[in-house]
Amino acid sequence: MATEIFDKVNQMMQEIEQANPEGAAAIEQFRIQYLGTKNIIKPLFSEIRNVPNERKKEFGQLLNNLKQAAETKFQQLKQAAESQASDEEAAKIDLSAPVIGGHLGARHPIATTHNRIVDIFQRIGYAVAEDREIEDDWHNFTAMNTPADHPARDMQDTFYLLNSTEMLLRTHTSSVQARVMKNNQPPIRIIAPGRVYRNETISARAHCQFHQVEGLYVDENVSFADLKQTLYFFAQEMYGPQTKIRLRPSYFPFTEPSAEVDVSCFICDAKGCNVCKYTGWVEIMGCGMVDPAVLENCGIDSEKYTGFAFGMGIERQAMMLHQINDIRLLFENDVRFLGQFSGAL
Ligand code: DAH
Repeated sequence: MATEIFDKVNQMMQEIEQANPEGAAAIEQFRIQYLGTKNIIKPLFSEIRNVPNERKKEFGQLLNNLKQAAETKFQQLKQAAESQASDEEAAKIDLSAPVIGGHLGARHPIATTHNRIVDIFQRIGYAVAEDREIEDDWHNFTAMNTPADHPARDMQDTFYLLNSTEMLLRTHTSSVQARVMKNNQPPIRIIAPGRVYRNETISARAHCQFHQVEGLYVDENVSFADLKQTLYFFAQEMYGPQTKIRLRPSYFPFTEPSAEVDVSCFICDAKGCNVCKYTGWVEIMGCGMVDPAVLENCGIDSEKYTGFAFGMGIERQAMMLHQINDIRLLFENDVRFLGQFSGAL
């Protein structure tokens, strides 16, 4: 009797080791058979009383091994089935298939507006000149004919580098005019896009950092009419063929005469809306004939050459084009805002 029951347990052990059920149903069957509440191992424990005393311990261990073997086998079967299922899933994925509904990134409106402005001027022969954002006082102010007591030089308006009265974050890209003219003789025809800094309180209308595009054309016989025509071309390319421009007399230290440029409001067709504040006109930039003192400061003969210059804020153009009413949106990188420009070139 004793050996019989031992044989039975050993045989069951063999069955468990050799079992190879396939598929979820067969594996579940295995589990019910060996590990379920009515499993076939359990009744063997009551056979212990029929086993002679000296072999009771051995028998008990054998049964525990049997239980353990069933548990281990079941875990192995389960894992194998799971990894086979995920292999089958993976095999179904076609790695060469095109992405459907993939998320497209968006260019920042500052970048698209910058590109648009640069592109317009490049088409009429302007080269792009980029230069440093950390500038010295001479290129930013002195060369640009800005007197020592001019309010723009004030610490309240300009970020000076720590412990320096010489080095600053450029307040406009007009500084690039000086850089280019010092190193080149006319004809000069450049635009200078880039970031500028001012010590401004941040609000919906103003920021302490923004972008400008400066323009400069110096050659023999450059006239105010050339300036006007160039800006007219720009305005039509930028804001549409029906756009008109208007120049209002103004003052900048580096140009004489100077003007501010308005375009007819392209949102309301100059009929009056809140973008143009019901005037039909929107200011887009400053401009003028390069002051002869600026030419001389930079080593260009002002008897022989004349030039015009202009400067505009990129944010301002972007805000107008997209009817954005708060400049801070352009610097906060909120994807809910930026996502609206997806697909823009
Ligand atoms: N530098 C001026 C500013 O930051 C913009 C400007 C006005 C540039 C007139 C010019 C110009 O070249 O002629 O506000």
